[in-house]
Amino acid sequence: MYLDQLKRNLTAHQIVGTFVIPSGEASKSFEMYSQAMTAMLEAKLDRSSVVIALGGGVVGDLAGFLASTYMRGISFVQMPTTLLAHDSSVGGKTGINHPLGKNLIGSFHQPDAVIYDLSLLDSLPKREWLSGFGEVLKHGYIGDQQLLDHVQSTGVTNITASVLRKSIAVKAKIVEADEREKGVRAHLNFGHTIAHALEQVSGYGALTHGEAVVNGMAFSLYLSKQLHPSLPIHVDDELHQLQKLGYSFLPLQTMDVAHDPIDVNR
Ligand SMILES: NC(=O)c1ccc[n+]([C@@H]2O[C@H](COP(=O)([O-])OP(=O)(O)OC[C@H]3O[C@@H](n4cnc5c(N)ncnc54)[C@H](O)[C@@H]3O)[C@@H](O)[C@H]2O)c1
Repeated sequence: MYLDQLKRNLTAHQIVGTFVIPSGEASKSFEMYSQAMTAMLEAKLDRSSVVIALGGGVVGDLAGFLASTYMRGISFVQMPTTLLAHDSSVGGKTGINHPLGKNLIGSFHQPDAVIYDLSLLDSLPKREWLSGFGEVLKHGYIGDQQLLDHVQSTGVTNITASVLRKSIAVKAKIVEADEREKGVRAHLNFGHTIAHALEQVSGYGALTHGEAVVNGMAFSLYLSKQLHPSLPIHVDDELHQLQKLGYSFLPLQTMDVAHDPIDVNR
């Protein structure tokens, strides 16, 4: 959608080649990685070449992984075009999926720059706004109560630069403290263990990433309360708030994994 515009702005100064992938999570695959790698080799990119990831999180994750492995690593720039990619373009995690699990093959490779033109979000369909706000809400839950309250009161159909900056700030602060996920970075995975499983079993692309994350966060809140009943979590209120924003949940019985006491050491 925005490729020609970008190319027009680049070609005066650079030699530009392009590789366009089909939309959707299924493109984060070995097959697409291999095809793109072949195209990069045929175009004779060298160690001074730069990969520009123009697209959503799927493009960003795949292009970042290509850049991190081409000739043992070349530069790359993230140009996110979805709201969700405010999260995926920051932090340096890149990768592809395997039929046995999501994001299982990848690397840490920081972009040289992230260039975010919010006007590109104007063309996002409603479902993708909901998906992107899933990660904004996550950043609120794990690091910024005011951000969470703000989104819950204003809704999930548009975003201001200041709200976006707050959401990115939660992620950036955590990544700066723990780039390689030895500790606190795991907080960014809130809801994601379940989310990744849901995405894999439902077939990559059936659920948006954000839909899976919101379901995963709901489940994590529920599980936390089961494990630690004294925690000040009101699961029904949280679910109600998320539903009011437009999210829907998989049937609760799917989540109701165990009525027996849960062995936390398992
Ligand atoms: N690396 C990380 O730290 C990290 C963090 C969070 C998520 N992710 C990954 O990000 C991916 C999800 O990203 P996503 O939600 O951006 O998905 P996506 O890249 O599939 O984009 C969602 C849809 O929006 C379309 N689209 C993109 N930009 C558009 C625009 N400006 N206007 C209209 N349509 C547009 C795409 O074609 C696609 O159909 C997942 O694979 C997830 O695992 C990675």
